[in-house]
Amino acid sequence: MLILPDLAPILPWYEKNRRDLPWRHTKDPYRIWVSEIMLQQTRVEAVIPYYERFLNALPTVAALAAAPEAQILKLWEGLGYYSRVRNMQKAARTVMEVHNGVFPTTFEGIRALCGIGEYTAGAIASFAFDLPYPAVDGNVLRVAARLLAFEEDVLAPTSKKQLTAAVAAAQPEDHAADFNQAMIELGATVCLPNGVPKCEGCPLRAVCRAHAEGKEIALPIRRKPAPRKKERRTVWILRCGDRIALRRRPESGLLAGLFEPFCCEGHQTPSEIAATLTQWGTSPLRIAPLGEAKHIFTHLEWHMVGFEVIIPEDGMDFVPSELFFAPREEIDVQYALPSAYRAYRPFM
Ligand code: ADE
Repeated sequence: MLILPDLAPILPWYEKNRRDLPWRHTKDPYRIWVSEIMLQQTRVEAVIPYYERFLNALPTVAALAAAPEAQILKLWEGLGYYSRVRNMQKAARTVMEVHNGVFPTTFEGIRALCGIGEYTAGAIASFAFDLPYPAVDGNVLRVAARLLAFEEDVLAPTSKKQLTAAVAAAQPEDHAADFNQAMIELGATVCLPNGVPKCEGCPLRAVCRAHAEGKEIALPIRRKPAPRKKERRTVWILRCGDRIALRRRPESGLLAGLFEPFCCEGHQTPSEIAATLTQWGTSPLRIAPLGEAKHIFTHLEWHMVGFEVIIPEDGMDFVPSELFFAPREEIDVQYALPSAYRAYRPFM
């Protein structure tokens, strides 16, 4: 069993140095849950406006449970990893149907909800109910790994288990919320990744083994991720009058259920685009290049070229049946489009 040093000095440090973040003003488990799900893959500064907009639109679990899918996807537009918000809605429906609308108040009850893992359950249990469970995210793993001069790959499941157990054992009986927030805060603002941590401002400097051994930059150790797959795509901003062709992506898989412009595999030339239109039974009025763009997902890169493709009014009848034509003014308000297409949005 790994034994962490006494972590008590982080409590007064947190009191003095904490950032004023909107989700730190509430004990409402619903609001804390929304913040933690948003923060899973997204930076604090980027989350704040989404958090406020989401809670203005859907202020309660009941509102989230009842919201149309199109609304929740639109509220999430740009945050990515859309399964997060779909799972939240499933969980909200469970709260309404199984828990009579009352958010569960035990760790096990929270952990059983769809989309809530060990970390998020610990975060909600401690922040909302002050229950003494650890909340070990990437920030806290890094802090613990450095404190212990832990030399294994921190992302390996066994390492995560060991480090989480060590943090749980070091948790004071009281102040669960502040202790967990403080550990996250230390990782986010002092014990920084990729580069130089700010050890001079760290309340745990005196007990940190990585610091004592001069290893704070080398740790934590992370295995190299598999290289991302690269895909070439041609994005058609297919226009007919003032309408743009969109399609809905499949119900499962990457960007499930979101809307997108028509795309083809590979990098097409204008004459290949014209040939496709001829095959459909129509022809272009104009094919104009819109430039290249790249989007990086966790395991995949899209290397895109874009074209504005204008077809005549009657061309609408010849396009593949997966496409529909949306008036331009509706695209902004009605359809959730992934930010992968950001470079081409001005042309839509
Ligand atoms: N990252 C994950 N949870 C957080 C929180 N509660 N405050 C700041 N950053 C976080």
